[in-house]
Amino acid sequence: MIYLDNAATTWPKPSSVPEAVNRAIRRYGANPGRSGHKMAAETAQQVYRCREKAAQLFRCQPERVIFTLNCTHAINTALQGLIRKGDHVLISDLEHNSVSRCVHQLSLDGICTYTVVPTYPDPEETVDSFRRAIRPNTRLICCIHGSNVFGTILPIAQIAAMARQNGLLFIADCAQSAGVLDLDLSRDPIDFLCMPGHKGLYGPAGTGLLCCGSDQPLHSLTQGGTGSDSLQLEMPDYLPERLESGTVNTPGILGLSAGITYVQGHGTRKIYEFEHRLVRRLYEELCDVPWVQFYGPEPRLDATLPVLSLTLGSMNGSESAQWLDQMGGIATRGGFHCAKLAHEKLGTDQIGTCRISPASFNTMADIQNVCRLIKRKRIS
Ligand SMILES: Cc1ncc(COP(=O)(O)O)c(C=O)c1O
Repeated sequence: MIYLDNAATTWPKPSSVPEAVNRAIRRYGANPGRSGHKMAAETAQQVYRCREKAAQLFRCQPERVIFTLNCTHAINTALQGLIRKGDHVLISDLEHNSVSRCVHQLSLDGICTYTVVPTYPDPEETVDSFRRAIRPNTRLICCIHGSNVFGTILPIAQIAAMARQNGLLFIADCAQSAGVLDLDLSRDPIDFLCMPGHKGLYGPAGTGLLCCGSDQPLHSLTQGGTGSDSLQLEMPDYLPERLESGTVNTPGILGLSAGITYVQGHGTRKIYEFEHRLVRRLYEELCDVPWVQFYGPEPRLDATLPVLSLTLGSMNGSESAQWLDQMGGIATRGGFHCAKLAHEKLGTDQIGTCRISPASFNTMADIQNVCRLIKRKRIS
C-alpha cells in the first residue's frame, strides 16, 4: 500500500509514538491530577510535559494548552464557549463541517446568525472581504488556515490582526496546518488555535489541542471533575481545568508528546517543503495528462498546503479513489471531505474529488509510482 491519505490522519507514525503509548499504559497508568500517590504524580508530570512541548511549538503558556478529543472538539469548545445569544459570526467559504455545522446549528437554535465570507487568491482581498462583512453585533471570526480539499492557504495572521483592530475574537482551524506551517501565538493576535493531534503532529487518533492565545473566558462545553476545587459546584475559572473535565486520554497524550518531539526535531518548515516537493512533482507529472483533472489552485510554496484534489477520466472523486486503491493499492480519500462549503465554492459538490495528501514518511518513489499507474494507459 502507498498511503496518501495523511490529511485525514497521518500514517505511519514515528516509532516513538506507539512506544510512548505502550509506555503510558505500562508505566503511567494512574489517573493524572487526581490521586496524590507516586504513579499519579509521575503520570501528571508526563501529561504536563506534552503541554509544555505544545506550548513551545505554538508559543503560548503550557496552562493555555487544552487537551481535546480531536480538532472538531477543539473548534466546538471555542465556538460554543464564546458565542452568546444575538451574536453574529463570520466564517470563510472554505470551512470544514466542524465549523460550518457548529455555527449552523447555533443559528438553528436561535443563538447566533452567521455569514459565509468569500475568499480570494489575493490575501488582501480576502482580508477586505472579512472586513466588509462585519456588522455591529459581529463577535468573532472563525477561519480555516488551509483547505483540507484544495490546499488553499488563507492569510490568518492578517485576518486575525484585522479582527483585533475591530474588537472581534479570532479562532483559527489549523487542522491541516499544525505541524506543517509556522503558528505563533506570541506573534499573531489569534485568540484560539484548534488542531488535531493525529494529523501533522503525528499523535494517535482521538487526540487534539485547543491553544488559547488570550485570556478570553470560555463557557465550558462539559462540566465535571477536574481534581481541583472539588467542593465547589462551579467549574474552576482557570485553565486548563476549566475546559478539561473528566479523565484525560493519557496514552493518546503521551503518544502526541512523542509526535510533537518528532515535528520539533525535523522542523515544520523542512516538513512542509518536503511535502510540497512531493505534491508539486505529482502535479507537474500529471497536469498535461488529458484524463487527469485537477481542482483548486496549482501547488505553490507558501500559497498551498500539500493537498491535491483530482478526478480521473469520467470517474467522480470516490470512483477515482477506488480505482487508485484497486489498481495500485494507493490509499487516498474520495468524496466530499466533510467540506460542503469548499466543494460548492469550487463547483465539485456534484462529483466530489479524490484527495491526495502526502506526509513526511512518503517518498518521491511513492509519487512516481502513482504517476506511472495513472499515465500507463488512457483512463476513460
Ligand atoms: C480543516 C479541518 N478542520 C477540522 C477537521 C476535523 O478534525 P478532527 O477529525 O480531528 O475532528 C478536519 C479533519 O479532516 C479538517 O481537515
